[in-house]
Amino acid sequence: MFQVNGKPFLMLAGEVHNSNSSSLEAMEPVWAKAEELGLNSVLLPVTWELIEPEEGRFDFELVDGLITQARKRNLKLAFLWFGTWKNAQCMYAPEWVKTDLDRFWRAEVAKGQHKKTLESFHGMQYTTLSAFCGETCKADSRAFAALMRHLKVFDGQARTVVYVQVENESGLQGAAREHSDLADELFAAEVPQDLADHMKAHSSTMREDVRAAVENGAVSGSWAEVFGPLAEEIFQCYYVARYIDAVAAAGKAEYDIPLAVNAWLEQGEPGNYPSGGPVGKLLELWQFAAPHIDVICPDIYVRDYCRVCEEYHRNGNPLLIPETGIHSHAGPRLVYTVGHHHAWGFSPFGFEEMGEPIDAAIGILFGMDTGDPLLSTPQSVQEYSWYNKTLRDLTPMLAQCYGTRRLQAVISEQAERTMVFDGYSIAASMDHPMVRRKDGVCLALQASDNEFYLIANGCALAFASADPGKPHVDILALEDGSFVNGEWKMLHRLNGDEAQIMNYGKPTLLRVKLFAYR
Ligand code: DGJ
Repeated sequence: MFQVNGKPFLMLAGEVHNSNSSSLEAMEPVWAKAEELGLNSVLLPVTWELIEPEEGRFDFELVDGLITQARKRNLKLAFLWFGTWKNAQCMYAPEWVKTDLDRFWRAEVAKGQHKKTLESFHGMQYTTLSAFCGETCKADSRAFAALMRHLKVFDGQARTVVYVQVENESGLQGAAREHSDLADELFAAEVPQDLADHMKAHSSTMREDVRAAVENGAVSGSWAEVFGPLAEEIFQCYYVARYIDAVAAAGKAEYDIPLAVNAWLEQGEPGNYPSGGPVGKLLELWQFAAPHIDVICPDIYVRDYCRVCEEYHRNGNPLLIPETGIHSHAGPRLVYTVGHHHAWGFSPFGFEEMGEPIDAAIGILFGMDTGDPLLSTPQSVQEYSWYNKTLRDLTPMLAQCYGTRRLQAVISEQAERTMVFDGYSIAASMDHPMVRRKDGVCLALQASDNEFYLIANGCALAFASADPGKPHVDILALEDGSFVNGEWKMLHRLNGDEAQIMNYGKPTLLRVKLFAYR
């Protein structure tokens, strides 16, 4: 589990809307909502334009104010560094950067073209700073280093800020790679040999198309020779990752806390999603080219949540979800992400609005696909805070089970819903006729040989033996309840009908003692 000051910390977080952390006043109602939801941490943007309004003049008053506000509520923070990139654009670069086109060049999506309108993104216009401009990278690195230096002084002891995300959804929209003269020259030149070697050496873990491109390509040579059909995206990705790593390295040299990057996920061809960003299929490349980054995170607004989690939770990359929807899958996904992936944390985006009707326009913008009834149903605040409180209470036990098969979870969004432990299996049926809701989830923690704690909602449970020598199972004790000051407090001893029909239509914490016999 993620550690803060030597103690396990499960990030039960939420990310604020982009503009809310631009003033302390705007944050007041946001903190209240975080408390209502039972969050223990909040993800907040810190923007280059506000901390360095003039080159070399830094202002950390807002940063300090945000930390102080969080401390008052006993909340932890993660800061999101909106520097060169924010959703493949340079919106948060300071005026002195945006306006000096000679010193801080913009990316060319085609020769001489710096701006692209994407019809596939509702006619949005994209322009961004070039990943090949050393001067921009230096300026961003200086600003990020100043922020981290300041955080070390202001927060090094208390450690309110638990990690920092470097940039936000980096990459290039509108083309698979940049087309400046310099980019063209580098693209025609040889691939750095250490990169070519690394990719070949790690091809076995790659997604099929990446693996094929890497394995079929030349051992050395130009990008097109080495990476074939994926050459342009891999080229852009290498230079974006190297750039971000330089920014990260400058920050880490000042203050060594975990650093993250987040991805706008693949949608169609590169350039229709930011090319060069940390998409899951290029995890191996990011791990190589950005060694100062500790965790590579997906922003999941697509439907196949479970597949994306698998794609990012591999090759030693821990799972941390900095952004996902606030619809009715949010609570179950939180529980699943912790129980199945033993994640660092989970953070729905725009949590300020959780529980409110999902506005169609916002839904489309966030990729929530409001045509789907479950995705357009708001997550209940009461249930979400129940999940958070319960996971918080279970954290010491969860921490002991992380990395073992004693902690498992299943969700209605996945097909297989049986969990097999030492001695027992637990089936959580979510399409059973008695189950009335579609947002089912079940987390099971094996506390000792015969004892389990379970979070169940929207499912019917069945216990079975996983020991062929003892094929039969009795329930010796089944209780629902909660933890009070770290001690289990039973509400109902469940027996008779309630032990016969174990069907849960609201979030429930259970303790069960089983007995397997011949
Ligand atoms: C992903 C970005 O990372 C967030 O900052 C925010 O813009 C959301 N998309 C919602 O559009």
